[in-house]
Amino acid sequence: MTSLKTPTPDQLCFQPPTALKELIHVDCASHVYPDGTIGIHQMCFRVFESEIVALCGPNGSGKSTLIEHLNGLLTPSEGKIVVRGRLIGSKEAADLWKDVGIVFQRSDDQLFAPTVLDDVMFGPINMGIPYANAKSAALSALKAVGASDLVHKLPNFLSGGQKRLISIAGILAMKPKIIALDEPTSDLDPLHSDIIERLILELKNKFTISVVIATHDLDFAARIADRVCLVRRGSICAEGSPADMFYNDRLINGAGLQPPTVVQLYRAMCIEKGISATERPLTIQQLVEVTSKKIVE
Ligand SMILES: Nc1ncnc2c1ncn2[C@@H]1O[C@H](COP(=O)(O)OP(=O)(O)O)[C@@H](O)[C@H]1O
Ligand SMILES: [Mg+2]
Repeated sequence: MTSLKTPTPDQLCFQPPTALKELIHVDCASHVYPDGTIGIHQMCFRVFESEIVALCGPNGSGKSTLIEHLNGLLTPSEGKIVVRGRLIGSKEAADLWKDVGIVFQRSDDQLFAPTVLDDVMFGPINMGIPYANAKSAALSALKAVGASDLVHKLPNFLSGGQKRLISIAGILAMKPKIIALDEPTSDLDPLHSDIIERLILELKNKFTISVVIATHDLDFAARIADRVCLVRRGSICAEGSPADMFYNDRLINGAGLQPPTVVQLYRAMCIEKGISATERPLTIQQLVEVTSKKIVE
């Protein structure tokens, strides 16, 4: 387990993981929608190799707008975005959708083909991969998400959780370097949320894909993220490790959020037991470990 101790003030500043390669650099990007609404404003954001980075912010803070910039679906009105050395908007970046896959919040925005297999094969076929190879990529992706049994189903008739899995398979079949998932656990029951959570960890650990998650579910982000970026009014207002972010009330409240349940529970238990809150558990397992240790002491 990583250290849960309270950091010194200088540790609260985000130190870029210099050993890791930068895959995406969003440099002071702004986006104004046609009706004049500001989606993101002077947004600076980076994605590194082998990480799960969580964008945490309240509704309307700009998470989805940022995600849609990561593969050029939206282009910035100001600033620039570079993905693996290619500038978004330039000719060289025309096929960025191969590098960065986006799993939309509403699966219905993504699924459209007559069968699950057609849907998952669509990306590889669109990349110019021959039919037999595209089919085998689709079947492997369906297996990876644990949905091989749905291969001949009609996407329309699937449950919300199944649709989310098929959407992820459709992106995975294209073998991207980065996958961005917009509110991946929203509207799912706890069982399917858990499946998606484990799948996201597998994307990073087994497929070495960097993962960006947009979420306002801080409990989920606390369990899964390597790095957390707090999003407020279209910009990142703070970034750092989950413990540094979620145990800092000034930052969390400033972003219009509430600390994760485990953080609230830990503090309440410390008050109840009369012990000082010197550790920083983020998961239920860590909470149990630190509180039982304290009680024994
Ligand atoms: N297509 C659009 N046209 C106009 N305004 C939009 C559009 N999409 C999002 N917005 C606005 O941009 C801001 C950021 O929205 P969004 O990126 O969806 O936030 P989040 O994903 O954090 O909830 C909000 O004020 C929202 O109303
Ligand atoms: Mg959103």
